[in-house]
Amino acid sequence: MVTWRCVIGAATIAFFSLAITIPVVSAAAPPPVNKNHTVGEAAGWFFNTSSNAASANYSDWAASQNFYLGDFLIFKTNTNSSVVQTNNETTYNLCDASSDDGNQTFLWGSDGGDSNSSSPTPQVVEIPLVYEGSNYFFSDTMEGAQCQKGMKFGINVVHGNGLPPAFNQPPPAPYTTPPPPMTTGGGGGPSQDQSSPKNGVEGMQGGMVWTCLVLLSLGLMAV
Ligand SMILES: *[C@@H]1O[C@H](CO)[C@@H](O)[C@H](O)[C@H]1NC(C)=O
Ligand SMILES: *[C@@H]1O[C@H](CO)[C@@H](O)[C@H](O)[C@H]1NC(C)=O
Ligand SMILES: *[C@@H]1O[C@H](CO)[C@@H](O)[C@H](O)[C@H]1NC(C)=O
Ligand SMILES: *[C@@H]1O[C@H](CO)[C@@H](O)[C@H](O)[C@H]1NC(C)=O
Ligand SMILES: *[C@@H]1O[C@H](CO)[C@@H](O)[C@H](O)[C@H]1NC(C)=O
Ligand SMILES: *[C@@H]1O[C@H](CO)[C@@H](O)[C@H](O)[C@H]1NC(C)=O
Ligand SMILES: *[C@@H]1O[C@H](CO)[C@@H](O)[C@H](O)[C@H]1NC(C)=O
Repeated sequence: MVTWRCVIGAATIAFFSLAITIPVVSAAAPPPVNKNHTVGEAAGWFFNTSSNAASANYSDWAASQNFYLGDFLIFKTNTNSSVVQTNNETTYNLCDASSDDGNQTFLWGSDGGDSNSSSPTPQVVEIPLVYEGSNYFFSDTMEGAQCQKGMKFGINVVHGNGLPPAFNQPPPAPYTTPPPPMTTGGGGGPSQDQSSPKNGVEGMQGGMVWTCLVLLSLGLMAV
């Protein structure tokens, strides 16, 4: 009798520990690797002046991707277009960064004021995805004309494994510093009108974000 109780008890324990162990093992699957999404793929983030249209169908492109916290959007563009990020859907629908009187709208890189230059400077704008949920992006160059002609898209950023350790703070105060454009290639230095943020738009500069994130993570490691 005692032996049977023992066997049944052991089997029960084994059963429950298996039942408990299996989900724990599957929950501890390796984290998805964060991805860099090149906006528009090979077409980049440009306005095609010959066709007077966006160079790609950016909403279709966005719909083809899955976005997780900690991923990057890579905008391969030039100073004839801007990259505005907002969480304010009204601002997005208006194609007007300066319409947002809140703190949810940011200008990255150039302000797109180079539209009359015959050869706009190439630039690459790299944006880490740190807001879960709806994020909107558009070019508000030429009073929103580029946005109205399709240089706009919305994405839904899902949690995944959450922000990587280096991202574990939402964007802090340094974003309010007036940004020089984040420029790769082209060789030309920032021009005057690129370095001043628009009214109502808080400028962000990638290098500064990284410096801040690195300092934050160093601080955390030191604790
Ligand atoms: C994604 O872009 C960021 C920012 O430029 C870079 O630090 C990172 O190495 C890139 N990751 C991959 C997988 O290319
Ligand atoms: C711009 O549009 C014109 C006319 O539709 C097309 O021929 C050309 O290939 C486009 N340029 C780029 C870079 O997509
Ligand atoms: C969103 O933007 C609209 C105008 O574009 C503005 O009226 C509204 O106050 C903004 N909302 C927030 C929460 O900032
Ligand atoms: C934006 O403003 C709201 C209220 O006005 C505040 O709760 C929130 O923390 C602010 N966000 C940032 C990133 O400053
Ligand atoms: C810049 O874009 C505008 C449209 O927003 C266009 O009219 C202009 O020709 C473009 N300039 C260059 C140099 O591509
Ligand atoms: C571009 O040139 C046109 C005509 O010369 C002018 O009306 C417009 O204000 C200029 N735009 C910029 C951004 O300098
Ligand atoms: C992009 O393509 C979709 C259909 O796939 C279409 O409904 C939409 O109007 C297109 N957007 C632009 C800006 O052409």
